[in-house]
Amino acid sequence: MSENNDIDYGPLWGLIGVWKGDKGLDVAPEPDGTENNPYHETIAFSAIGDVTNAESQTLAAIHYRQIVQRKSNDEIFHDETGYWMWDAAAGLIMHSLNIPRAVSLLAGGEHNGKENVDGGIVLEVSAGLNDKNWQIIQSPFMEKNARTTAFHHKITINNDRLAYSETTILEIYGKEFEHTDKNELVRQ
Ligand code: HEM
Repeated sequence: MSENNDIDYGPLWGLIGVWKGDKGLDVAPEPDGTENNPYHETIAFSAIGDVTNAESQTLAAIHYRQIVQRKSNDEIFHDETGYWMWDAAAGLIMHSLNIPRAVSLLAGGEHNGKENVDGGIVLEVSAGLNDKNWQIIQSPFMEKNARTTAFHHKITINNDRLAYSETTILEIYGKEFEHTDKNELVRQ
């Protein structure tokens, strides 16, 4: 692993920093329907260097920690951590995600390393139980009672503004539920 300054973080470079946003909206499952939770959050992305795999693949990696609080009472109701990784040679971005419900996943997506015509960067990754490359791992309890079957995450970065929308498909309470989260954040 190397930590020198000339590491190319490609399209992930724009993530680095501490971001705050208070326009969050979570749509979560309830036994009798849906719960809508307005939230504010802090996400800290830090550049941690690069790693080499099998002496042939180099990944530039960014670690993040996301702390989400309910607007109504400031309770932390979502705590997430993981890495974003950039494989420049393959034109791939990867996002590993862990939440303390005993659910983890590795999502992936192609990226040409370039900005959009408007100068923004879009990062888009997915994972799914039926996806042979990008997978979800969950405890036996979650597998049985609140199974995550698919995940999609899109982030758009424009200078010091970041917006994301995330869809997590769940099988819970005897039905399929589209659990969604979105927010707009500003770099501090
Ligand atoms: C900003 C992001 C997120 C927030 C604020 C959030 C919030 C919530 C809330 C409030 C519930 C309902 C909990 C309850 O009623 O007890 C829930 C359920 C759940 N979430 Fe999330 N979530 C987020 C992202 C995710 C992600 C990324 C995943 C997995 C990839 C995930 C997986 C689950 C699962 C499996 C449940 C079902 C457990 C249950 O309702 O008892 N969530 N989430």
